Amino acid sequence: MEQYIIKGGNPLVGEVVIGGAKNAALGILAAAIMTDGQCMIDNMPDVRDTNVLLQAMESIGATVIRKGPNEVTISGKNIDSSGDLIVDNEYIRKIRASYYLIGALLGKYKKAQVVLPGGCEIGSRPIDQHIKGFRALGANVKIEHGMVIAEAEQLHGEHIYLDVVSVGATINIMMAASLAVGNTIIENAAKEPHIVDVANFLNSMGANIKGAGTDVIRIKGVESFHNTEYSIIPDQIEAGTFMVAAAATRGDVLIKNVIPKHLEAISAKLTEIGAEVEESDDAVRVVATRRLKHTQIKTLPYPGFPTDMQPQMAVTLGLSKGTSIITESIFENRFRYVEEMRGLGASIKVMDGNTAIISGVEKYTGATVAAPDLRAGAALVIAGLAAEGYTTVTQIGYIQRGYERFDEKLRGLGGLIEKVDSEKEANKFIFKTGTVS
Ligand code: UD1
Repeated sequence: MEQYIIKGGNPLVGEVVIGGAKNAALGILAAAIMTDGQCMIDNMPDVRDTNVLLQAMESIGATVIRKGPNEVTISGKNIDSSGDLIVDNEYIRKIRASYYLIGALLGKYKKAQVVLPGGCEIGSRPIDQHIKGFRALGANVKIEHGMVIAEAEQLHGEHIYLDVVSVGATINIMMAASLAVGNTIIENAAKEPHIVDVANFLNSMGANIKGAGTDVIRIKGVESFHNTEYSIIPDQIEAGTFMVAAAATRGDVLIKNVIPKHLEAISAKLTEIGAEVEESDDAVRVVATRRLKHTQIKTLPYPGFPTDMQPQMAVTLGLSKGTSIITESIFENRFRYVEEMRGLGASIKVMDGNTAIISGVEKYTGATVAAPDLRAGAALVIAGLAAEGYTTVTQIGYIQRGYERFDEKLRGLGGLIEKVDSEKEANKFIFKTGTVS
């Protein structure tokens, strides 16, 4: 099985270019089948989740032409809508964003049968708000044999108040409502940058969506969509991961192709703990020259501190002076990396399942750890880069779901990391990088 082997202790130094936002791409790719015209989409991250979604779209007849790793042309023209429009295969079962095909297909064809979403096991992750939205628009929705089955004669605009601020439900309802008859208002909508990006994409196809990025989104239904060309925004979480990696390894990294505004919550915390963060138009530079300080963090919907940056930040705070507290308020099962971090020498206690008390240690020591999910996997890689000696991170399939060429980008910053597939390859890496001091 593929794993990363890392020799830690080198500060990350240099420049890294951030790719397109995975979570925006997943909404945009699904939405692309809503037109019979052609969507040319650029700056698409070439990661497992996007590739699995594209395969699922092809399986129902969408035309997907890859023009390169980050550019794709999609058309929904050849989707055969005479049948039930069933989306199910062993891969799509594992990803979260399969749910966007419900909103996209329901909006366009007024029917969809999509396997219940999977995704990282970071909590129970219900989809009741998605279903509530579809029902409000006039769809019949039931769950049978692990499939979400939705159908409607016609969708009608409605005033929908979300009980929970949900990224997925906001995007899904926005998609379906865009091709409904009449006006929809989504209240208590999520405000993440990728909501705005999906709305901009839909508008570029002819939708009429206003207010994305605020908590009230207004949608005037239109009859159909047309061709578009679109470039996906940079990935906020990939950028944040490299910012934190720079800080944790006491490095100096210029992170390019970012929207600094999207990174403010992360920049603010890094500054607070003593790192220097310099912003320019489309880049941020993070420099840490000495041991950082403790802080308190609570994860919140955007513009609050993102839950998807929580594990990476915990790894950094684990090496900072003093006691830090992280409260996870979005998902209930997002501290599964703590056990692995203990193996590296971190001192972290989890209280009531949602609060981590982190007593900073002077150093981590290399060990073999397993990635429990996507973002925690990235955090363990950062820990390995900061640790003394060799760290092996297993189950890296999780990391590959959302980070494009992660090891290659880290090597570009001087990180000693290699993807290996056998003990022989691991030994070769150890030989090449010298023995543990
Ligand atoms: C998306 C992101 C994920 C990120 C999360 C929060 C994708 C593919 N994934 O996940 O990386 O961590 O946003 O920023 O974009 N909830 C309900 N009912 C629902 C929907 C959600 O109770 O119908 C709850 C969830 O359990 C969670 C909270 O709402 O506690 C937020 O979830 P949501 O924003 O929907 O996250 P996802 O769309 O799953």
